Amino acid sequence: MGVFSVASAPLKLGKRVATSRLVESLVTPNPIERYVELFDPGWARDDVRAEIVAVVHQTSRSVTLTLRPNANWRGFSAGQHVGVGVRVDGVLHTRMYSPASSALRDDGLIELTVSEHSGGTVSRHLIQNARRGMVVPLTQAEGEFVLPSPRPGSVLLISGGSGITPVMSMLRTLCDENDQRPITFLHYARTPADQLYAEVLDELAENHGNLRVLTAFTRAPGGNVNGRFSMRHLKAAGVGPGCETFACGPGSLVEAVESVWSKHAIKTPLHVERFTPPPPVKITAKPRGKLLFARSGLAVKNSGESILTQAEAAGLRPTSGCRMGICHTCIVRVDAGSVRHLHTGEVKDVAGETVQICVNAPVGDVAIEL
Ligand SMILES: Cc1cc2nc3c(=O)[nH]c(=O)nc-3n(C[C@H](O)[C@H](O)[C@H](O)COP(=O)(O)OP(=O)(O)OC[C@H]3O[C@@H](n4cnc5c(N)ncnc54)[C@H](O)[C@@H]3O)c2cc1C
Ligand code: FES
Repeated sequence: MGVFSVASAPLKLGKRVATSRLVESLVTPNPIERYVELFDPGWARDDVRAEIVAVVHQTSRSVTLTLRPNANWRGFSAGQHVGVGVRVDGVLHTRMYSPASSALRDDGLIELTVSEHSGGTVSRHLIQNARRGMVVPLTQAEGEFVLPSPRPGSVLLISGGSGITPVMSMLRTLCDENDQRPITFLHYARTPADQLYAEVLDELAENHGNLRVLTAFTRAPGGNVNGRFSMRHLKAAGVGPGCETFACGPGSLVEAVESVWSKHAIKTPLHVERFTPPPPVKITAKPRGKLLFARSGLAVKNSGESILTQAEAAGLRPTSGCRMGICHTCIVRVDAGSVRHLHTGEVKDVAGETVQICVNAPVGDVAIEL
């Protein structure tokens, strides 16, 4: 089972006991949180952990988890993401998920919706195995894809597939603020059966006269607009002066939105978030040199792929999260050599520096502390 199972000792008791230095000195050499965890795996002194309190399958290829974070959780702004740790076959994997719930939810619970990636380790594991009572480690929320304060004159939210989560949170937060400014929500799903949050959107539109919801299906008839994002869809949604647009979804949707903005020289602000990395820059030079994993004493022929991919292929298990240069969990020190950033193509001598190994590839001989 990937996620930790839960025990029943109360959170408050664990915290009171743990803050006592005397008790701590009695149970050393192990830090006290290890002992408290024996009774309550949902608690650790500084870590954020969250208990899964509800599991719903909105569609056959997704799972919606409601989580109750412990007292270390500092909350989030609508649109941010959190790292969720899941143990699969003994290995802890961390992936980023954006809460879809309102940032103002007064019960303190957060809701994550995880959509399946074919062949994906964590998404498939959670869809199949997540159960009430399980406890998962979380990171604090991060990310700049957030609603500005003060709020803009009007808001256009565009999403595709699993990318609905951060904009759903923005929408629910605006509704909880009782914001009366015009909001348009334009969502793309493959078919009606794949559409996430359909009922929630209907209900919000019924209760908030300033909200307009438009849906589009890319692989089925129906919907308010037809097919893929285009200038025609933007005209249907409307983007007047004072409007700010937030778009999240697969690379193809985000690129289509960006291209309409640049082709038509649209001046109103556009904010985008991708769940998948941009395509790597094309490198014509053949990879050369060796990649030395100094701590493990392993050396491999440089394949030109990211250091993370090459380390995993060599049987190492370095810590990683987003695998696209966002979360900084994969930072490792380079002892000697240069690396190329796979998204920008920039080459840098990084001897003595740390690099994000998920988005950097060796250039020539490189020695790294792994
Ligand atoms: C800021 C941010 C917010 C996000 N929010 C959400 C959210 O709210 N909801 C959501 O569902 N997702 C979200 N994601 C995406 C999420 O973090 C994961 O990327 C997603 O769940 C896939 O993880 P996985 O472990 O299932 O797939 P992984 O195992 O990481 O695999 C991803 C893809 O790569 C392929 N792959 C894996 N290994 C290899 C290999 N060796 N060679 C070739 N292909 C391979 C897999 O087949 C799969 O299609 C977010 C991502 C980011 C960056
Ligand atoms: S794994 Fe997130 S930055 Fe590398």
